Amino acid sequence: MAKILITGGTGYIGSHTVVSLIEQGYEAIIIDNLCNSSIESLDGVEAITGIRPLFEQIDMQNRASLDDFFYRHADIKAVIHFAALKAVGESVEKPVEYYRNNLGSLLNLVASMQKFSVGNLIFSSSATVYGEPDSLPIMEFHPVKPAMSPYGNTKKICEDIISDTARVNKEFHAISLRYFNPIGAHESGFIGELPQGVPNNLMPFITQTAAGIRKELKVFGDDYDTPDGTAVRDYIHVVDLANAHVKALDRLMKENQDDNYEVFNLGTGNGFSVLEVIKSFEKTSGLKLPYQIVDRRSGDVEATYASTTLANEKLNWKAERTLDEMTYSSWNWEKKARKMD
Ligand code: UD1
Repeated sequence: MAKILITGGTGYIGSHTVVSLIEQGYEAIIIDNLCNSSIESLDGVEAITGIRPLFEQIDMQNRASLDDFFYRHADIKAVIHFAALKAVGESVEKPVEYYRNNLGSLLNLVASMQKFSVGNLIFSSSATVYGEPDSLPIMEFHPVKPAMSPYGNTKKICEDIISDTARVNKEFHAISLRYFNPIGAHESGFIGELPQGVPNNLMPFITQTAAGIRKELKVFGDDYDTPDGTAVRDYIHVVDLANAHVKALDRLMKENQDDNYEVFNLGTGNGFSVLEVIKSFEKTSGLKLPYQIVDRRSGDVEATYASTTLANEKLNWKAERTLDEMTYSSWNWEKKARKMD
């Protein structure tokens, strides 16, 4: 049973990926500094899989403790790196903190992995690197645009660090996964997204509004050049996303990559507008969602959705879950997490 390190494994996408890994027979070990997640997610993983993953609270900015970790766990075969700060608005306010944390952690990780000869890395990247796309669907070879936030820039620079490392070290095999818009939660309702403070992203804002924590949802702009005027995104169920990480890992472990550094889009290939997401939520929850149309949010792009051909062909993976399954599971999780059931 290959042992896999998941950094940031108590977070939203990390915890779902830990479940998928365990289900596919991998041994998961998590490190996380718990700055934006809760240790209770381990209970959720255990409730779903029957296995409690190993966990150590480590801040990856501390190179010595990371080295010590790899020294003690010499049998780690690969790393999936989720640990990062991810709030776009906050990154604009605190650029130094974002660059220091996101770049520092990745630099320490890559250095430690090379020191301890761990040669397989999967990096949690974002479709934000494409900026405002010139054409749709977005393909992996489409240009990476200047980032619209320090957060987005850290994703681009991390990709560059990994790609430059892979170029000179052929023993180093890496894959960057560019996520479109992950939403939803595990169908059990035992794990999900629980942002601290006011959510920045659409889905948690919707579920918190439905839960009565927020008064109403603000829909940012209805004058986009889209069918109903609201912005279009490629929403992907987090369980499908998690499964893609296992497929990427399978590919790295078999060393059947064409190149020792590859990039894949992870989306469904379908675009949905903000109003379509609201409609789906109202249908699956049976609730009426209070919302108001307001001005566009600065930095938002009009429409994005992925070409999934590369991931379909090379990872042998395809997103399977519908938008209704995404909104249903998000609400199911929110209710459980707020003890509303
Ligand atoms: C955002 C980030 C992106 C990041 C991703 C995942 C920006 C510009 N981009 O993507 O870099 O990788 O989250 O964390 O912030 N919306 C509303 N009302 C709300 C919230 C959102 O109408 O209260 C709309 C947005 O305008 C957008 C859509 O919902 O059209 C999705 O927004 P969001 O969930 O924040 O994701 P992105 O902006 O696509």
